[in-house]
Amino acid sequence: MVTESVLRAEGVVKHYGPVKALQGVSFDLRRGEVHALLGHNGAGKSTLVKTLTGSVQLDEGQIFLDGQAVSISSPSEAQSNGIAWVDQELTLIPNLSIEDNIALGGMESTFLAQRKQHRPRVKQLLEQIGLGHLSPTQEVGTLSIGERQLLEITRAFGRNSKIVILDEPTATLSDFEIERVFAAIREVTAEGVSVIYVSHRLEEIIQICDRATIMRDGQVVTTQEISGLDKSALVNLMVGQLPEFAEVQSIAKEGGNGDFSITNLSINNFVQDVTFGAKGGEIFGLAGQLGSGASLILRALAGLEPKSSGRVVLSGKQFRLGSTLRSRKAGVYFVSNDRKGEGLFLTFTNSRNLTATRLPILAKASIISRSVLKKSAETLMQLAGVDKSRRTMTVDSLSGGNQQKIFIGRNLNHPKMKLLLLDEPTRGVDVKGRAEIHQLIREASASGIGVIFSSTELDEIMELSDIIGVMHKGKLVNVEMRGQTNAAKVFNEMVRESEIEGVKA
Ligand SMILES: Nc1ncnc2c1ncn2[C@@H]1O[C@H](COP(=O)(O)OP(=O)(O)OP(=O)(O)O)[C@@H](O)[C@H]1O
Ligand SMILES: [Mg+2]
Repeated sequence: MVTESVLRAEGVVKHYGPVKALQGVSFDLRRGEVHALLGHNGAGKSTLVKTLTGSVQLDEGQIFLDGQAVSISSPSEAQSNGIAWVDQELTLIPNLSIEDNIALGGMESTFLAQRKQHRPRVKQLLEQIGLGHLSPTQEVGTLSIGERQLLEITRAFGRNSKIVILDEPTATLSDFEIERVFAAIREVTAEGVSVIYVSHRLEEIIQICDRATIMRDGQVVTTQEISGLDKSALVNLMVGQLPEFAEVQSIAKEGGNGDFSITNLSINNFVQDVTFGAKGGEIFGLAGQLGSGASLILRALAGLEPKSSGRVVLSGKQFRLGSTLRSRKAGVYFVSNDRKGEGLFLTFTNSRNLTATRLPILAKASIISRSVLKKSAETLMQLAGVDKSRRTMTVDSLSGGNQQKIFIGRNLNHPKMKLLLLDEPTRGVDVKGRAEIHQLIREASASGIGVIFSSTELDEIMELSDIIGVMHKGKLVNVEMRGQTNAAKVFNEMVRESEIEGVKA
């Protein structure tokens, strides 16, 4: 029967020093259900997940598996109890192969000695999740962040567990790849596996989940069947009202500071002859599914892709690709999609992270006054929506979504910025934070700089772009003003019919 409880948490309390992350949380998971965990950034979702996976120890409360009280004191104990999970932050080891990463901390301990025998199984796992083009022996470091995310997911599903916990599994995936993840979820739940699903993408929740538990400030607000809820009901339960913003007037005009044109951009023999441009004050959204080349374009413009060619003119001046220094000199600022790998210094304080990239601006005669630093950090934290009192805490003590806000905040309002590039700007950010970040980007754009962002998420493309460019397999297949196109059309350009058939099959 579906009402059987496989996992139950009662009265779970977890404090990190003064931070009350969980304040008496109770939760139950039924056999074969997909159970959503929802709540604003910092609500306590990941902390709850971590207590269930033995990654942190609870201060009070009790966890039951199949009705038996258990204490899960380490991740390996969670695994031997049949719990598999995907962390919110990616955990694969870049310089190991795909097959070794799948084996690590999971499959039989003899795996490494018997790689070859296991290879067909690894191949099968890869194919199921849509990564059939990869070889098991390929190093993980060569994969895009979306491919890594799929790999983490397939690794968790490959473990024959009773419970699979996914903490924002789809943050960098497009609607198309998410379908594959959903197919995997449907397959395992049909066999009686239970899934806990943490996400800020409410449409997904409505599509795949049976029940939802909504958390706010370390407590459970309610647990409800999804069937009676729509998106706005979920938003209300999570964050109350969404903020309303006054319309930002962009100042797009010919010859402005942020006008750019990109001609015949080619990257890595994959992106081919891409040509587009926009005026300062306009937001250009690059839509594309995983591996479409959209984020490669941003990386190339930031100077991070050595094998790139093409003509780029920014604010009337041409600059050569292939060097981060040249791009930065030309006024290009890049916010990558990998806050952990390429961005934040996790063990530095929030304030140091916010000021790290702007020391030269703040320094007067090479001496930086402490009060200038403090003031600047505070302003930026406010911009990023992070509480001022947390200025001196380290970044890894923030929830995933709040880390993303710091990451974005760090890259805004530079006086020398002419072109702002953002790769998946609201990855893991809650609906309210997302509206705020979009507003920050609009304000930055309204100052006349150029903005290009890429997103796999159709909603975000439609919400934020003035102009939409669609990438498919390395080609720019269409460019249109937002008013001239619609979501269904953009989706069809991102994904070809034949591919959709492939997923449904
Ligand atoms: N290692 C830590 N040290 C101190 N505080 C922490 C630590 N980890 C989490 N916290 C705090 O605990 C609270 C809950 O964080 P948690 O990561 O569980 O939120 P979340 O609901 O997963 O948010 P998000 O949607 O942003 O991922 C937050 O206030 C966070 O800053
Ligand atoms: Mg989290």
